[in-house]
Amino acid sequence: MKGLILSGGKGTRLRPITHTSAKQLVPVANKPVLFYGIEAMAAAGIEEVGIIIAPETGEEIRTAAGDGSRFGVRLTYIVQDEPLGLAHAVLTAEPFLGDSPFVMYLGDNLLQGGIEDLVAAFRDSEPDALILLTPVADPEQYGVAELLDGAVVRLVEKPAEPRTNLALVGVYMFNARVHAAARAIEPSSRGELEITDAIQHLVDSGRRVEPHVVKGWWKDTGRLEDMLAANRLVLDTIEARVEGELIDSQVDGRVVIEPSARLERTTVRGPAIIGASARLTDCYIGPYTAIGDGCSIENAEVEHSILLSGSAVSNLAGRMESSLLGRNVTVGRDHRQPRAYRFLVGDNSEIGIL
Ligand code: G1P
Repeated sequence: MKGLILSGGKGTRLRPITHTSAKQLVPVANKPVLFYGIEAMAAAGIEEVGIIIAPETGEEIRTAAGDGSRFGVRLTYIVQDEPLGLAHAVLTAEPFLGDSPFVMYLGDNLLQGGIEDLVAAFRDSEPDALILLTPVADPEQYGVAELLDGAVVRLVEKPAEPRTNLALVGVYMFNARVHAAARAIEPSSRGELEITDAIQHLVDSGRRVEPHVVKGWWKDTGRLEDMLAANRLVLDTIEARVEGELIDSQVDGRVVIEPSARLERTTVRGPAIIGASARLTDCYIGPYTAIGDGCSIENAEVEHSILLSGSAVSNLAGRMESSLLGRNVTVGRDHRQPRAYRFLVGDNSEIGIL
């Protein structure tokens, strides 16, 4: 069994972060989202993993994930010249996949509990496809499935009027029959070859498509709210570990302080993670916060936020919350109503608050 991780796409919903960086490399609990998918493959015993990359962000992904040896897998990079859809990505990967069955994992998805059980179920019952489903509040944003007596009867990509609330999770298992199905379909109204339509084609051709409703949580980290939610969910599972230096500082609950971080007159209330070489002085860091490597925070309160490496926050009169700062962002004191801080800021931005 091989693995295929899709790490192309433009990440339009996470702009401006994604103007300068691939969405799959935005960190959740200080680890790129993509790495969770690679680790899930490794844990399921999959050794050969192809990563679909886009020409624009591919180099950054290659540099981050390397040859895969540190995850215990072999990574092969496959360039998809244009973002023409998930089924197009499968066809692009056909020379790599050959006639092997494979797990396809969308590189911006996070799935609690990994994929070991699902891979085992797929190996056991050998369907043509195994799809994962989960009830969501906004099914019109996803591929939506209709089941009848436990069997898949209809799959529609982002229907205006969804007939169920069962969304397709971005993790799929296929045998080689999917290639013919991907070749048989036409582009959708958004101009993409949809994997949802390819799976519908399998259903229509009488192939066996097995649905599994996932038990744990699942997150597609395409938007700020989803990133923050994923960050919360992962931080809830970390184990406390303090390796940095604490001077007149206090750490409550589940907190990771990485080596060479330095906290002075600072309180961190977990779950939270403070990256290597971060400098925190006269701060309060509240629950569900991930501070990246080398960040510097002074005389400020930060809660329920993600700060990428090298960002600096200082002298805030109010608490910063529910924010995502890109790399090397500077946020300083400013004076304006309402007294709240909510950011979605790209790399190397600089913000002044009145
Ligand atoms: C894609 C799929 C959709 C699926 C979703 C899961 O959507 O097309 O069927 O439900 O991933 O994350 P996209 O991210 O392309 O909007």
